[in-house]
Amino acid sequence: MAIRSLHHVSFTVPDIKKTRQFAEDFGLRTVEKSDDHFIMQTGGGDAWCYKAERGERGFSALGFLVDDESDLENAVSQHGASEICKLETPGGGLGVTLTNPEGLKVDLVYGIEGDTPQEVQPELRLNTPALRTRFADPQSTRPLGPAALYRLGHLGLYVKDYKASAEWFEKTLGLKISDSMHIPGKPDHTVVAFLRIDRGEEWVDHHSVFLAQSDKTDLHHISFEAQDFEAQARAHRWLLSRGWEPNWGIGRHPLGCHVFDVWFDPDRYRFETFTDTDLLNDKHETGHHDISTHEMDAWSSEPAEAYFAD
Ligand SMILES: [Fe+2]
Repeated sequence: MAIRSLHHVSFTVPDIKKTRQFAEDFGLRTVEKSDDHFIMQTGGGDAWCYKAERGERGFSALGFLVDDESDLENAVSQHGASEICKLETPGGGLGVTLTNPEGLKVDLVYGIEGDTPQEVQPELRLNTPALRTRFADPQSTRPLGPAALYRLGHLGLYVKDYKASAEWFEKTLGLKISDSMHIPGKPDHTVVAFLRIDRGEEWVDHHSVFLAQSDKTDLHHISFEAQDFEAQARAHRWLLSRGWEPNWGIGRHPLGCHVFDVWFDPDRYRFETFTDTDLLNDKHETGHHDISTHEMDAWSSEPAEAYFAD
């Protein structure tokens, strides 16, 4: 199965209007809307990456882009996916749906026509004590408002059976564990894993899927790439001014190394921006760590309780 990238997430939400307002303030762009649904994209050139339909609060599906139509055929014949169907979402394309051991729907999609990427804001040119790059030339200012987002990068899932879920993502989708964590003193009892997409020598994000053992099956967070720390800090102030609730950050994860900023949507799902993630390829050797020795935020000694509170 040749997975290319994480493509989308789908939800059911009780208050379509309020959730759409949050997502637009967060930086997503509406491409289709009605009283009963909306579909959104980042500015990075995807046709869409996030959709919601009116309903009880719930996480409906995650989706991956595959390399070829034959990957969809393979998913049907080898892994029990639903029949290949034409997608009705922006950009068209084809898709199938797998069901993982915890009942989560995992879509595989192919052949979606992307949108025109937005222009990036002028890059920051930093003057540090060791390296001066800007002379008599003020830093460009950027407009106050939502962050420009460039792609859906990763998501975190709560799972009831860590072992079965990790095996499914490894064997069915071919994901690789970049780092995992076990309970204190018991290396055989893994409870958390960061999985990346296997693209061989090609460089990929440290993780596209994060799994955490829990007493429930649900989404923990979704994460979108922003341009840089400046964009994250500006978006943080913007979201505060719009009355939304921060959850955790701004901080930096030691594993994966990205700078994160996490917010609650109206249904208390976590939406994260990230920048400066580690890139890995098939030369990476899986790390296995004692959870008690690993901080979740390199910039803070606060326990990560708020991050896993519900
Ligand atoms: Fe994350």
